[in-house]
Amino acid sequence: MGDTPVLWVPELWTGGERGFWAKLEGRNPGGIKDRPALHMVGEARKRGDLRPGAPIVESTSGTLGLGLALAGVVHGHPVTLVADPGMEPLMRRLLLAYGARLEIVAEPYAEGGWQAARRARVRDLLARLPGAYCPDQYTNPDNVGAYAGLARELAARLGRVDVLVCSVGTGGHSAGIHRVLRELSPGVRLVGVDTVGSTIFGQPARTRLMRGLGSSIHPANVAYEAFSEVHWVAPAEAVWACRRLASARYASGGWSVGAVALVASWLARREPAGTRIAAVFPDGPERYFDTVYGDAYCAEHGLLDGKPEPDPDELPYPGAAEAVRWTRCTRVTRPEPAACGGAIEAAEAGR
Ligand SMILES: Cc1ncc(COP(=O)(O)O)c(C=O)c1O
Repeated sequence: MGDTPVLWVPELWTGGERGFWAKLEGRNPGGIKDRPALHMVGEARKRGDLRPGAPIVESTSGTLGLGLALAGVVHGHPVTLVADPGMEPLMRRLLLAYGARLEIVAEPYAEGGWQAARRARVRDLLARLPGAYCPDQYTNPDNVGAYAGLARELAARLGRVDVLVCSVGTGGHSAGIHRVLRELSPGVRLVGVDTVGSTIFGQPARTRLMRGLGSSIHPANVAYEAFSEVHWVAPAEAVWACRRLASARYASGGWSVGAVALVASWLARREPAGTRIAAVFPDGPERYFDTVYGDAYCAEHGLLDGKPEPDPDELPYPGAAEAVRWTRCTRVTRPEPAACGGAIEAAEAGR
């Protein structure tokens, strides 16, 4: 785990001389979340929050599940993952093969939707399984602390980094890499990448197709003050970038990889020559064969031929308008909790 390769990627529109460096976290055994899974479990064991052999329980739709399954194998814990029917069949089979137990909740809650149903099942399991431990990646500071190694690997490979481009879900890797990288490479700017329909940076909650990045809450681990700008990307734009990456570089991944590559490519065109841009690719393409790389799925959801405009729309502040295509905002603040009350529940109920 760790010490993943760094690949030079020419910007996607023209494949010209400008480009960015991609940290290929899909080369970990499971994906980027192997790092926080092993770290959160290791620290919980040290603190005594997780006793030897005790069960681990978590609600996840994928990558963290792979990491926790790995941590369970390494440290000898049974792992139970709570997911919803949206989890891809491939992911289910992999998790089972890696020895995890899966609980799929059958129905969304009328209030709070699938996420609320999953959280309730986790609470049930924690009450029923003696000594069970839930890492809770949205609030656990060890999720952020887990990425010090990744920051050091980037600095060792690239020396100076001027711009770091990260997708944001729990906020863990953007916060953790930037916190350490700014010590090693002072002045590094952090650019966040989210999906349209995600509330993290103050947009209204909508049903989301893209998984991995985005959320319907304001996770405590998001380091709002660290971001110099945020971009929201639409699914068709991410599909275009993923497919282009695959054919141009033989290195691609899922929704978050496409979205990050799109934004990093734009920065490579726009920043002064010589600006060193590092982007984090959280996973590889395998899990997305039936979605991002599936023509039938993409046609059904209108995601084919989604070549993005050369530039994003701009918002003066995050809530100024709803982002429905690639959109950028250079004012980033923690949204007011009230900004996403009932809308979240409505959107989650539809998932
Ligand atoms: C594939 C993928 N990309 C991006 C992210 C977002 O990373 P983070 O939770 O560190 O913000 C996740 C989180 O689960 C993920 O699974």
